[in-house]
This record gives sequence, C-alpha cells and structure tokens, in this order.
Amino acid sequence: MDSELVTFIARERNELERFLLEHQFAVDELLTKVTILRREFMHLRHYNPIEHVTSRVKTPASMLQKALRKGVPADLDSIREQLTDIAGIRITCSFIADTYLVLETLTAQSDVRVLEIKDYIVRPKPNGYKSLHAIVEIPVFLSTGPKHMKVELQIRTVAMDFWATLEHKIFYKYDGDVPPRIIDDLAEAARVADELDRRMEELHAEVHGTEDTAPEAAE
Ligand code: GTP
Ligand code: MG
Repeated sequence: MDSELVTFIARERNELERFLLEHQFAVDELLTKVTILRREFMHLRHYNPIEHVTSRVKTPASMLQKALRKGVPADLDSIREQLTDIAGIRITCSFIADTYLVLETLTAQSDVRVLEIKDYIVRPKPNGYKSLHAIVEIPVFLSTGPKHMKVELQIRTVAMDFWATLEHKIFYKYDGDVPPRIIDDLAEAARVADELDRRMEELHAEVHGTEDTAPEAAE
C-alpha cells in the first residue's frame, strides 16, 4: 500500500492537487447552501433544523485504499467516476422530520442533481445504523468552465450520530471483527437511540406544534 501510494502520488501530483481542490470547492459550495438554508430558516420560521455540520475531503491514502478495495483502477479519472464519497458533508439535525426537511430542501435546488438516495432511517442497516444518504452532483465554476462534482451527503439526528460515531470506533477497535455480544448490544443501543428520537420529537410537537417540521416526514 505504501509503495503504491508513493507511485500514485508521484505520477499524478499536479493532477492530484487539482482533483482535491475541486472536491474541496464542491464541499464549500454545498456548505454555503447549508448555511443559507440555516439562516433563512431562522429568519422565516425562527427555527433551526440543523444542529451541526461537518465536512471532509478524503485523503489520497484513504481514496486509494478504497479504490483498491472496490477494484477501481488507481487513476484519478476512474476514481472521480466511480468513488462517490471523495467529498462528503454530514448534517446533524435535531429531529427525524428535520432530516427529511433538509434533504428535500437541498435536493429541490435547480443546480443540485440527485444521483442516489439511500434511506437508512426507514430501512436501517442490520447493525442498527440509521441515516439519510444522498449522492448529489453540483456544479463548481472554475476558470476553465463549470465542473460537475459528486458529493456524499449524510443527514441524521443527534441520537443517530452519537450511535454511528461510537459504532465506528468499536468497529475499528475490533478491526471489523466485532464479538457477537457487542453486536447485540449495539443493536439494542440503536433501538434506544431511536426511542429517544421519537420521544423527543413528540415532546417537541407538544411544546411547539407540528408546523415547524415537514408534514410529509412527520407522519
Ligand atoms: P462505502 O463503501 O462505505 O461507501 O459503502 P456504500 O457505498 O455501500 O455506501 P453507504 O451509503 O452504505 O455508506 C456510506 C457511508 O456511510 C460510510 O462510508 C460511512 O461513513 C457511513 N456508514 C454506512 N454504514 C455505516 C455503519 O454501519 N456504521 C457507521 N458508523 N457508519 C456507516
Ligand atoms: Mg459510499
């Protein structure tokens, strides 16, 4: 892996810098959209559905590792085409309804093209993982013209995020080979997190009414 990484970087150094920069621009564009959404929501509804936002561009090492794992050729064109999570944004929302509201509002924008949506809230992963995932394509305007960039968007509640963060750490601690008892405990913890989400949402609706949240998602 190390020598492959050195060869990869040496061969494509200039291209690699541009590649990473373009993905950073895509992240920045999407972050601006999220900031506008947040501020406009506050202005319009005196309500902020977003707790916090994080973002990242994959490192060359992690990009290459994933390409090798998925059988994608280790060149930038193939990686750009076939890896959809080089640029990533994670939005943590207060309530379940907010996750759908944020996804719908962002993907309704005319320059956002949705390539894929995975609803792990309605259909959680077997381990209990919940989140809304979308792969979107947005234009980044460069001096050479517009470039359409893919960004992975993950939207989840605070409780889902708490669970996912811990699960990720445990998964890595055991190098993917998590003992069955811990798998069971994690599944149970996911159930508790979900219960918490639902109770907090009910409480919120009781205090504020349901007009703050997306009607279709609040059903
Ligand atoms: P990847 O090969 O990991 O990209 O999976 P995928 O292409 O099938 O996409 P998926 O939408 O399932 O997962 C994309 C990302 O969601 C992952 O890279 C993680 O950041 C996150 N994710 C997915 N499943 C889990 C999980 O079980 N636990 C945690 N903590 N995160 C997950
Ligand atoms: Mg993926």
